[in-house]
Amino acid sequence: MEDLLVSSWCKDRAVPETYIFPAEERPGKLIDVPVGNNIPVVDLGVHDQTQIIQQIFEASQHFGFFQVINHGVPNHLMDDAMSVFKEFHAMSGKDKTIECSKDPNKSCSVYTGSQNYAKERFHLWKDGLLHLCNPQEKYIQFWPEKPTRYREVVGPYTTEVRKLGFRILEFISQGLGISPGYFSSGLAENPRLLVNHYPPCPDPSLTLGQGKHRDPSIINILLQSEVYGLQVFKDEEWIGVKPIPYAFVINIGYPLQIISNGKLKGAEHRVVTNSNLARTTASFFINPLDETIIEPAKTLVDASNPVLYRSLLYKNFLIKYVAASGNTQVLEEALSSSTE
Ligand code: OGA
Ligand code: NI
Repeated sequence: MEDLLVSSWCKDRAVPETYIFPAEERPGKLIDVPVGNNIPVVDLGVHDQTQIIQQIFEASQHFGFFQVINHGVPNHLMDDAMSVFKEFHAMSGKDKTIECSKDPNKSCSVYTGSQNYAKERFHLWKDGLLHLCNPQEKYIQFWPEKPTRYREVVGPYTTEVRKLGFRILEFISQGLGISPGYFSSGLAENPRLLVNHYPPCPDPSLTLGQGKHRDPSIINILLQSEVYGLQVFKDEEWIGVKPIPYAFVINIGYPLQIISNGKLKGAEHRVVTNSNLARTTASFFINPLDETIIEPAKTLVDASNPVLYRSLLYKNFLIKYVAASGNTQVLEEALSSSTE
């Protein structure tokens, strides 16, 4: 594995053929899509909760994406976390592999591409460090011990980001009009941290850091860093998400689209590479437990709002998600209530 990591070889080679996306999926000149202020920015520091609920609800309906500022996670913790994430990916491939091999059950791993390198159509210009987070006492022993501050920093960081996640889920529940405690059962019990690393790429017009996808999580809380690369697909167009210092980017995942019975949008997005700078980001995915049922909230279904999605255990949702391999239409059909 360590030799496959993009960061292990990218400085010495041109873009290998297996990393070149077919013309219609390449970013091409679209790397330069407008990096607008189009994605809503929600200030969580204001007193007017009704305003926050409304803004989050509208952003989740129309974009499936928004950024949050004044969110309560201390700036120094965000800085420290980003530093150790960058330090981790700067280590040798061998060290990274050793640091991610402590758990025989593989709750912590380092990999390249989509976690399924052998089967992917085209390889992604990306390495990832992925580990479980909750309960922290159970999983922290399997997290990297190098960089030496990893556990000391990422422990409090994930605790704070998880709190922020619950706060946002409460706002979303209120916006939807479902019980404020809706997500306090199994739906948010199994968060995982994915530290993405996109090394500089000699020809960003041919490659992607991540292909067009929707996240298989309830929501993602993304620490994006100062380097641009994330794009959202809205109204058949790509929009760049502008890096804002100390903001988090929040996006709605497919399971929340199901729970909301289609009211909220699991937005499609991708990551472009760039030729000068490495980009490191951290996704904190709020995920359900395997045995938790994902289904439209009962109170959102009535005669005029017929049920759109079938009820599934989260682990079975994941099987369908993986089988659809990024094809939205195939996934929609597999999850639709009318195919039951
Ligand atoms: C993801 C993702 C965006 C980014 O991890 O699913 O979309 O900018 N990340 O790294
Ligand atoms: Ni994503």
